[in-house]
Amino acid sequence: MPVIETAYAKINLALHIQRRRDDGYHELETLFAFVDAGDTLTARAAEADRLQVRGEFVDALDDPFDNLVMKALTKLPRPGGIELLLEKNLPVAAGLGGGSADAGAVFRVVRDMHGLPDDWHTRAAKLGADVPACVDSVTCIGRGTGTELAPIKNDLAGTPVLLVNPRVMIFTPQVFTEWKGIGGGPLKGETAREIAMSGGNDLQKIVTEDLQILEVILALNSLSDTNPVLHRMSGSGATCFALYETNEARDDALREINTRHPEWWTLTGNLR
Ligand code: C5P
Repeated sequence: MPVIETAYAKINLALHIQRRRDDGYHELETLFAFVDAGDTLTARAAEADRLQVRGEFVDALDDPFDNLVMKALTKLPRPGGIELLLEKNLPVAAGLGGGSADAGAVFRVVRDMHGLPDDWHTRAAKLGADVPACVDSVTCIGRGTGTELAPIKNDLAGTPVLLVNPRVMIFTPQVFTEWKGIGGGPLKGETAREIAMSGGNDLQKIVTEDLQILEVILALNSLSDTNPVLHRMSGSGATCFALYETNEARDDALREINTRHPEWWTLTGNLR
């Protein structure tokens, strides 16, 4: 029987940068959340590790053996090989942690099939700043470069969410490099809702004001027109998310966005 895992789309409900480190990485505080939809991984026991990729965004990926999925697999000790089929539904370089979500799903596959080594968190952090959060894919706070995780009261579980990507790829290091040292300070609030509502995304200002990526400005304006509870860019963009009170309001917003911008990528779901 295959093991089937969803690589849940990651969003940053809030992201405040604190300082630039000597190694070029940035210390930050972020509120991670996950949509109950994303890429799909189908895994089977096999003689040797193998990865096959299909789906809408397959062409945007590098050589599969350079893919974060394959790296995750090779970093985890196991008695046997695993054959993986990855269905790439999430856009790449999109602020959704697509590769990190896939890697996190690989960790869950290996946990199911063989169990994880005790130092799985260190192994995940070496693969990328978002990967540890993507292993459990539950709403949480990330500190340090995003790898130090702390639990949070999740009063946003089930919240209807719409994701919109105007189909521009954004190179994350380019956005961080533009940071001029002014951040949102510490995240404020006790629960996920309080933190999300009172926070912001410091990278959004860079993308919309410094880099002036017009498609992101347009995506944010279009989401604003649908009267969401909250709308914001995720990570370094270009994907923007909007939260709604009801699935009906979210689906109405989806119809409006699809009519006005049929060329944009969209995804709906509920927060986990
Ligand atoms: O860790 P990951 O490979 O996902 O990060 C991609 C890039 O984003 C890094 O090379 C770095 O330029 C930037 N980044 C950063 N500070 C973070 C996370 C990522 O500067 N906390």
